[in-house]
Amino acid sequence: MARQLQRDSILRITEINKRINRYRDLDSLLNHVLREARHLTSADAGSIYLVRDGRLSFEYVQNDSLAGPRHSPGFQYQHQKLAMDHQSIAGHVAITQRPLIIDDVYNLPSKVPYTFNPSFDQMTRYRTRSVLTVPLLNSRERIMGIMQIINPRDRKSGNATFNRDDEAIVTYFANLAAVAIEKALLTREIILRMIKMSELRDPTETAPHVNRVGAFSVEIYHRWAWDHGIDENEIQRTRDLLRIAAMLHDVGKIGISDSILKKRGRLTAAEFRRIQLHTLYGARLFTDITSDWDEMAAQIAISHHERWDGNGYPGAISDLAHPPRRLGPGLRGEAIPIFGRIVALADVYDALMSQRSYKPSWKEEDVIEYIQGQRGSQFDPAVVDAFFAAYPLIQSIHKKYGNGDTSTS
Ligand SMILES: [Fe+2]
Ligand SMILES: [Fe+2]
Repeated sequence: MARQLQRDSILRITEINKRINRYRDLDSLLNHVLREARHLTSADAGSIYLVRDGRLSFEYVQNDSLAGPRHSPGFQYQHQKLAMDHQSIAGHVAITQRPLIIDDVYNLPSKVPYTFNPSFDQMTRYRTRSVLTVPLLNSRERIMGIMQIINPRDRKSGNATFNRDDEAIVTYFANLAAVAIEKALLTREIILRMIKMSELRDPTETAPHVNRVGAFSVEIYHRWAWDHGIDENEIQRTRDLLRIAAMLHDVGKIGISDSILKKRGRLTAAEFRRIQLHTLYGARLFTDITSDWDEMAAQIAISHHERWDGNGYPGAISDLAHPPRRLGPGLRGEAIPIFGRIVALADVYDALMSQRSYKPSWKEEDVIEYIQGQRGSQFDPAVVDAFFAAYPLIQSIHKKYGNGDTSTS
């Protein structure tokens, strides 16, 4: 019986592994890895920490008791870093690189070196009880992070705890998931390098800015898609593609000369026409369309300066390699791809909220007033509505990625 159960689990994990290997974006991947690990053990909650700069950085949390699974909850963007030492459960597992089952975190055995940090429970009034923590090791057996699965459900007794079968299954799954996580980390690294290259050209295009624009866009899209009755699987798949594609919205600035990008003071009309070409240069990087992701990245690069009322740019372009001398007229309304309409709002919101070398940051209430005022002129009304519906999440993202001068970090 137990052997049959294990065989079924291994078959299930093989199927899951095929699915998770399709994710390119780290956040979406972590979301799915955690969800699948929880399904394997019928667990109510879980979290993932990744090693960043020698510390364990809190990356992802799921909790069915605190939030319905449909909407991404705000506590997912909370930020926490743990030292790699034996004082925390996560740190202990990261150092020993061995899985650990705890039956009740509020009744730890007396001889263990770690303690349980109850701050999340206190903040959310959740009751963490049984915790299974497994290491995530990369292909060179180095620690990349840890995964914690919390409170198994659907067992006969109310106070269920994890058992050795759970440990074996989750450890096996974690080893496979770690390969996908390593790949996603590499993809993100390459993209961040592309962004760094454009950042070298344009001091306003920085890692915190693009991270925020990527995260805002995903949450605006999620709300918009939900309002438009889009299927949940489609939403999840699109979130994965959108975050990275949105992060690259201004990558075409690589093609604009420093003398224009770094010019202090007003641009001449001719200089502004040159800057406008960054939309086309960006789109060109993804023109040999090999995947849905390339197509989305090209759409965002070319359309993130279009306006709902048609007064944006570059408008319809028949040949990317030979653009007209003057761009425009802009596309109007739904002729602008939805992802361009979403990133346009996310980008402007972040730019106004941030200090730049040529301007201080705006007050939040002024930014909100501006966006409301531009509903139906600069921005798609439905996108503005989705933005405000998702506003608590937008604020959490702003906190997580910092809200200072975008030209630092
Ligand atoms: Fe741009
Ligand atoms: Fe931007």
